[in-house]
Amino acid sequence: MTYREVLQNARKNMAPNCRVCRECNGVACRGEIPGTGGKGSGASFIRNCRRLAQIKINMDLIYEDRGQDTSATLFGRKFAAPVFAAPISGLGVNYNGFLNERTYAQALVPGCIEAGCAAFTGDGAPDFYLTDPLAAVKAAGGRAVPTVKPWDAETLRAKMDLVKESGAMGMAMDIDAAGLPLLAAAGKPVRAKTVAELTKIAAYAERPFLLKGIMTPAAALKALECGAYGIVVSNHGGRVIDQTPATVEVLPAIRKAVGGRMKVFLDGGIRTGLDVFKALALGADAVLIGRPYVIAACGGGKEGVSLYTKKIIAELKDAMKMTGCAALADITPDKVVDLGPAAEL
Ligand SMILES: Cc1cc2nc3c(=O)[nH]c(=O)nc-3n(C[C@H](O)[C@H](O)[C@H](O)COP(=O)(O)O)c2cc1C
Repeated sequence: MTYREVLQNARKNMAPNCRVCRECNGVACRGEIPGTGGKGSGASFIRNCRRLAQIKINMDLIYEDRGQDTSATLFGRKFAAPVFAAPISGLGVNYNGFLNERTYAQALVPGCIEAGCAAFTGDGAPDFYLTDPLAAVKAAGGRAVPTVKPWDAETLRAKMDLVKESGAMGMAMDIDAAGLPLLAAAGKPVRAKTVAELTKIAAYAERPFLLKGIMTPAAALKALECGAYGIVVSNHGGRVIDQTPATVEVLPAIRKAVGGRMKVFLDGGIRTGLDVFKALALGADAVLIGRPYVIAACGGGKEGVSLYTKKIIAELKDAMKMTGCAALADITPDKVVDLGPAAEL
């Protein structure tokens, strides 16, 4: 199977909810929730992609080529590249149900592992949004990161216990979920949490714990105070509030505030290995990719997921070769240039 075939299959299998556009940039699906788009005008999703596209890569081929090593150590384990599938839930309501929570996780979790990487899995108003993927996490020996929502204390404890039983290598919480329209419509109790609450939650996880949905240095410093292993710089793919900056725009300041003291993951609009390179250059330790993984799974199942991941790694390696980077640590800010006058967006 080729990636082109994966996309052709996906176009048939995902209609009409996802159009599998040539560029997955939030334009065609703007405002579509339920669906795959960004909230409101869709501007947050679109800006993630446009600002990434304005960052360009500085070539330099005058160096001693010692090969390129894309590997990264995270969660105490070695990965082929610092690339993870983002948590995606609501396959029935947001997509067309071609895959459901169980079959998506069965393609996603082992597909990422096959390519040397790993997936985050999601959570939501029906309990099976968490529990169906957890079966795949367990079957994979825990090589995945389930992501729980900021529920009330009792619900959260029960859900975290289930995650712990799965043997997951890490756990995350999308602290920004209070902005999700579908959760609000279901009347589910999710809300912001204090540093004191999150400190207890991070300890209760008993494994590396990440806070997802961090968009300012101040919030990153609070996550650090909670004892989190890391943060995900994320605006939830533009689905929790309209009119945020792009994640790559806020990344350098967040890196400056907490970099080296906790792991900084980033998501939002990452589509290729070149995008991964840009995010690493601007200060991320790793990236998450959301919507393209659903497309890969709907178009090619586990094989499609593995193929897409390998494609990303090959592109990252190519970018490293073209810029004189032998290891991820060599991907420094001077390897990219931001050509984007933000006012033009
Ligand atoms: C349909 C859909 C469902 C999502 N479900 C979850 C979820 O359950 N938990 C979560 O933390 N993030 C969820 N996200 C957000 C993604 O994890 C991720 O932050 C975002 O999709 C990244 O942007 P990208 O799709 O442009 O790569 C969802 C996103 C989409 C599009």
